[in-house]
Amino acid sequence: MKVLVTGGMGYIGSHTCVQMIEEGIEPVIVDNLCNSKEAVLTRIHELTGVTPVFYQGDIRDRELLARIFNEHRIGSVIHFAGLKAVGESVEKPLEYYDNNVHGTLVLVDAMKTAGVTSLVFSSSATVYGDPDIMPITESTATGQVTNPYGRSKFMVEECLRDIQLAIPEFSITLLRYFNPVGAHPSGKMGEDPQGIPNNLMPFIAQVAVGRREYLSVFGDDYPTPDGTGVRDYIHVMDLADGHIAALKSVGETAGLHIFNLGTGQGSSVLEMVGAFSEACGYEIAFQICPRRAGDIAECWADTQKANELLGWKARFTVSEMAQDTWRWQSNNPQGY
Ligand code: NAD
Ligand code: UD1
Repeated sequence: MKVLVTGGMGYIGSHTCVQMIEEGIEPVIVDNLCNSKEAVLTRIHELTGVTPVFYQGDIRDRELLARIFNEHRIGSVIHFAGLKAVGESVEKPLEYYDNNVHGTLVLVDAMKTAGVTSLVFSSSATVYGDPDIMPITESTATGQVTNPYGRSKFMVEECLRDIQLAIPEFSITLLRYFNPVGAHPSGKMGEDPQGIPNNLMPFIAQVAVGRREYLSVFGDDYPTPDGTGVRDYIHVMDLADGHIAALKSVGETAGLHIFNLGTGQGSSVLEMVGAFSEACGYEIAFQICPRRAGDIAECWADTQKANELLGWKARFTVSEMAQDTWRWQSNNPQGY
């Protein structure tokens, strides 16, 4: 089966392409390279022996999408393409809504025209906002988002819900990722943020290779066991496998399917620093700093629904996430 992978050159998309190829699924990638590099294709080839078909272009380009659907018998679409930096989204809401919301609508319209009815969408635990009760289940309320990035994910979810109601033959799967981290165990592929990393793990990794002096820990006065923020970190390889499990289990079943993809375990910032220090063999320098605006104290997933209905369970530990990130970062200190 051929699957169109939008944003397939990015962090999560590239790892998913590798796992798809291992499973005999043929990815066809469309990516405008606004946050990724063409070198990713070579790495996918090194890992799998296959170079996926790659279209460099934008998902908002209707003609390009029509051409891709014309040139390939696409069975499903996995839609990763989007902008994802929370701070930037506050400065540039227009860009975020245009790329993430409008881009998705153009894509779904092209799918409809081409008669492709299976879509898996990259959503985020950010759609849950700051819920009172942990763990977060798929029926926890959504929409209390605090920034344009989060709102764009929530808006896309709501659009897709309406579209699926109007076109009932559509199979639409919303995968709400918790905190993706880690890298391919080979050390050949991983996260390569441009500029100063916004997220914890890539920042720690850059401190470890000497690109940054120390980690700023955003707050140690949260109501958590050690006072630092707690998140559900999930290995990107587990996340990649979650997409394949979703394609296989519900990808051909009409309806709206919603799953949390997490491990079900929370870890604090200081626990992540500890795991990374162990992986790289020396202490990661950090300083306690004020809280970051918009951050929540803690967040982790109830994963029962994905475990039961997708037959999928995250396998990797925090220690493995740190070891694989370290292998990637130390082999590629400047990224790709
Ligand atoms: P990424 O930036 O590494 O990958 C996204 C890819 O999409 C990039 O290669 C980029 O060049 C491409 N892209 C962006 N806009 C495009 C457009 N208009 N047309 C074509 N290509 C375009 O991000 P990622 O971490 O791999 O995230 C993938 C998806 O998962 C995103 O939608 C993101 O919002 C979502 N998500 C990510 C996280 C996370 O922590 N990484 C968490 C929750 C959800
Ligand atoms: C952030 C986004 C979220 C997005 C997710 C994608 C915010 C407010 N939220 O989530 O919308 O879906 O990334 O992965 O930006 N931390 C530090 N120092 C750092 C970086 C982070 O202490 O330099 C702490 C944070 O305060 C938090 C934890 O590490 O407690 C994880 O942060 P991060 O990796 O940015 O993820 P989230 O905030 O969960």
